[in-house]
Amino acid sequence: MQTVTLIPGDGIGPEITNSVVKILEKAGAAIEWDIQSAGADVAEKEGSPLPDRVIESIKKNKVALKAPVTTPIGKGFRSVNVQLRKSLELYSNLRPCKNIDGIKTRYDNVDLVIVRENTEDLYAGIERQIDEDTAESIKIITRKASVRIAKFAFEYAVKNNRKLVTAVSKANICKLTDGLFLNCAREVAKEYPNIEYKEILVDNLCMQLVQKPEQFDVLVLPNLYGDIVSDLCAGLIGGLGVAQGANIGEEAAVFEPVHGSAPDIKGQNKANPTALLLSSIEMLKYINQKDVAQKIEKALYKTIKEGRVLTADLGGHSTTDEYTQEIIKNL
Ligand code: NAI
Repeated sequence: MQTVTLIPGDGIGPEITNSVVKILEKAGAAIEWDIQSAGADVAEKEGSPLPDRVIESIKKNKVALKAPVTTPIGKGFRSVNVQLRKSLELYSNLRPCKNIDGIKTRYDNVDLVIVRENTEDLYAGIERQIDEDTAESIKIITRKASVRIAKFAFEYAVKNNRKLVTAVSKANICKLTDGLFLNCAREVAKEYPNIEYKEILVDNLCMQLVQKPEQFDVLVLPNLYGDIVSDLCAGLIGGLGVAQGANIGEEAAVFEPVHGSAPDIKGQNKANPTALLLSSIEMLKYINQKDVAQKIEKALYKTIKEGRVLTADLGGHSTTDEYTQEIIKNL
């Protein structure tokens, strides 16, 4: 039995969490949930949207499954997601993007993995107003973080039987910062002679991705390009409802969907739990419950391929509950 921190989040978070917990339970996952609330409601009661107890729970359990949390615009508190990544040093953002049979997209051969550096670049948040008409933001790239993320990408490739790692940059323009990132990737690549290594500029990558996405395997990127390219890739496989993610560090891993708390459909039994379910499948593999992971994966893919019971964002007419029951039936 593994204890996992569960953050149900807000907006559609609790609905999709409920669905995923039910499916995992019926599939026989050996998990005990340590439920920790976070977000805007918690901020009102406890003074912070991310109280220390949440961080302590993840540090203790080392694994968390997290539903989305709303970040109110301009209300003064920092994003829970950014805070979580910083305080737990979750330096790698992993986003596998693979077509699912039954979800209609423009492509049918996408199977790539994005490894995004999660701690620096323009996200260091070092900005200043120079005068009324000029603002400045500082882009930080370090050898330590660049080598660490490149190693993560190559190790992921080795463990998951991937053949190619492509480092992405804009080193022709950002010669020092992206140049350093690229040099580090090159050095690390030499330690992995069995994995092919390529480099590409981020603008060219975007064009290639929408023309021939099948040529890519593992992509490793600095923070900002990684953020943008991962949403592009979510679009290639059918959008936010099916895009999973994970934030992984040396001491802990937090699995979460790419999408936000979708306040527009909150409480309407409409939300698609697939992205959180896919994240939980990846989590089950991470904690070595691979059989249960495969069982759920099969049931999910069968449900989507049959196409009889689907949520509205996937072109269906079913509720979150009906979709959940159908997956359970297919287990
Ligand atoms: P969003 O991802 O919540 O919603 C964008 C659109 O996609 C909406 O129309 C929504 O209904 C739809 N959608 C998203 N997930 C869906 C699902 N599972 N099933 C069906 N439809 C779905 O993005 P938005 O509106 O920009 O952000 C809302 C809030 O979420 C903001 O406060 C934002 O800060 C927060 N957020 C939190 C994240 C996290 O906790 N990891 C990530 C992204 C945003």
